[in-house]
Amino acid sequence: MFKVVKRKELAPIEFEIFVEAPRIANKAKPGQFVILRIDEYGERIPLTVVDVDPEAGLVRLIFQVIGKSTAQLSKVMEGESLADVVGPLGKPTDIENFGTVMLVGGGVGIAALFPIVKGLKEAGNRVITILGAKTKDLLILRDECQEYSDELILMTDDGSIGQKGLVTQAMEEVFGREDIHTAWAIGPSIMMKFCTITAQKHDVPIYVSLNPIMIDGTGMCGGCRVTVADSIKFACVDGPEFLGEEVDWDEFISRMQQYRPEEMQANEIYEKQVSNNG
Ligand code: FAD
Ligand code: FES
Ligand code: MG
Repeated sequence: MFKVVKRKELAPIEFEIFVEAPRIANKAKPGQFVILRIDEYGERIPLTVVDVDPEAGLVRLIFQVIGKSTAQLSKVMEGESLADVVGPLGKPTDIENFGTVMLVGGGVGIAALFPIVKGLKEAGNRVITILGAKTKDLLILRDECQEYSDELILMTDDGSIGQKGLVTQAMEEVFGREDIHTAWAIGPSIMMKFCTITAQKHDVPIYVSLNPIMIDGTGMCGGCRVTVADSIKFACVDGPEFLGEEVDWDEFISRMQQYRPEEMQANEIYEKQVSNNG
């Protein structure tokens, strides 16, 4: 059993839990994830490892309540246990000293971006971080990202904190004045698609983290199939990080929309906002 030793509501419907999982806490690297089940009847929930405390044997997870299983997870209280937590899964991010790097996070994607921000800073990079969300309350991990960034730019849809606008506008501003070696973007699929287009305009490689439906997390079920560089990849074992320019975004977004029709409308709004802002 995997005990939840700490639990906190970080933002409306976003929760942070620290789970006792010593083996994972010793091994997990930025970019990797776990798959957990709340009880023996539970669905498998893939969640990014946000941070680890190897000495205490703790793994930090942050999740947004989006459906049945995440709602159930939000009701697991301190002292209670999860049936299983499997990991670390996926390929770790390539962390090196590249020079100046750009990290872009949107919504709950900021949770998955944070370990990469931290890892790149600790490897000696000059880190420029751009975070975006609908409104101030949803802009999580601001202080921690600030701690590991040389520059932090905040963007909100309503201007309640930072600048009003999209993360791609902040990217353009930074590309205009900085020599960026490599970039990362993690957030909604539509955001990652436009971050890729923006980085490509400036000839900067950008990595994205894909989150298709995952079931077994071991490359066996085929649930997480994506097309990257014209070939079939399994995001759970070949990713979840891929070079943005190699992802078949139209196929990926349309597959995600099959599972989540409400995303279609959100994507249309995003596309309009991007085109209004040039
Ligand atoms: P449901 O009502 O079942 O589904 C809501 C939506 O969630 C679906 O339309 C689909 O888009 C997605 N989803 C549902 N089941 C799965 C599944 N088995 N695999 C992937 N997506 C699913 N979310 C976070 O909040 N924080 C994270 O750190 C995080 N990291 C992730 C890392 C990876 C590698 C992947 C693949 C996903 C990650 N997610 C993360 C998404 C998270 O797994 C889903 O939000 C969650 O499984 C939804 O379960 P549900 O039953 O509450 O929602
Ligand atoms: Fe089954 Fe990736 S989750 S193949
Ligand atoms: Mg579900």
